[in-house]
Amino acid sequence: MTIEPFRAIAISRLAHELKAEGRDVIHMEFGQPSTGAPPAAIARAHDVLDAEAMGYWESAPLKARIAALYRDRYGVEVDPDCLFLTCGASPALVLALSARFVPGDRIAMARPGYVAYRNTVKALHMVPVEIGCGPHEHYQLTAVALEALDPAPAGVIVASPANPTGSIIAPEELASIARVCARRGIAIISDEIYHGLSYVGPTPTILSHAPVATVINSFSKYWSMAGWRLGWLLVPPELIERTKALIGNLFLTPPSLSQHAALVAMDQHEVLEGHIEVYRANRALMLEALPSLGLKSIAPPDGAFYIWADIGHLTDDSVAFCERMLRDTGVATAPGVDFDPVDGHRFMRFSFAVSTAEVEEALRRMRPWFGALGR
Ligand SMILES: Cc1ncc(COP(=O)(O)O)c(C=O)c1O
Repeated sequence: MTIEPFRAIAISRLAHELKAEGRDVIHMEFGQPSTGAPPAAIARAHDVLDAEAMGYWESAPLKARIAALYRDRYGVEVDPDCLFLTCGASPALVLALSARFVPGDRIAMARPGYVAYRNTVKALHMVPVEIGCGPHEHYQLTAVALEALDPAPAGVIVASPANPTGSIIAPEELASIARVCARRGIAIISDEIYHGLSYVGPTPTILSHAPVATVINSFSKYWSMAGWRLGWLLVPPELIERTKALIGNLFLTPPSLSQHAALVAMDQHEVLEGHIEVYRANRALMLEALPSLGLKSIAPPDGAFYIWADIGHLTDDSVAFCERMLRDTGVATAPGVDFDPVDGHRFMRFSFAVSTAEVEEALRRMRPWFGALGR
């Protein structure tokens, strides 16, 4: 079984080497906000550091606050007993898969898709079933595609907004997906890590359509707290005991400092919505500029902070392309092969979770670079 490396990490390493040599680098390779945690959350962490011993801890107030988020954001009631705090969405995915499935189970997912879905499924000796999704499918899974899988997979990972495309599954399509899964006995894991980051209206939780689904989420994106390593997992009641056993053995609790800070972060609406306004402006700049760079075929960036662009007219080696662009311009991006092992050699992903000034500067540098390629 081959677990492929995340190639954007090699690009990022090179970006840091170039920076150490004195080059000015713009980091658009990773999907992480450059903003950091809301100031009030950081202030809370300072207070806690001075006052607490910080043992193993699971914050009941944070779980209650997350349950309130489901009430306020989606109108969905969540039992805090079904909620588990994790060190981000990554271990939540390991838990979600291990709690529900067994080795050999086939798990469907969209291609392109987040690199860790395929590789975590493989690491757990399950079998990824990648469904190619292009412009015709809005770069997303569809009920029709899930209906067509024969035999039905044991599970499916749904991600909306998605990484690397930012595409969102329309509410009525999500409901159809839930119906097909219920009828065919396909268990759903919904990665809702990019919820809150939408430019086209609200993103419904899968729980509105499939109350028995497993949901993962994280403080890494909307709350801008990637390095605090905190997220959560919501399981249906029948998986509570197994999840408890798994989490107790594999991970114990996430950092208590992060839990204290996250509780405060969850009420920092103004700061957090301010980030989204920055992303919105960045997205508009990118969408306006990319066609003039010759990048005319991109996935609809409905949410998250990514642009997934077809560079097939320029290269059939996205890793070499991203590396060359980084060396020439100091703009770091992610090669498509991370997200799509079949067609990713002709795609690249830009993350616009940087400042607007950085997006402007990146475009200023890329314009002549792409221009020279086209000649
Ligand atoms: C779709 C998706 N899911 C999960 C993760 C993992 O996030 P974390 O472990 O930081 O919560 C990422 C990170 O980029 C992601 O893009």
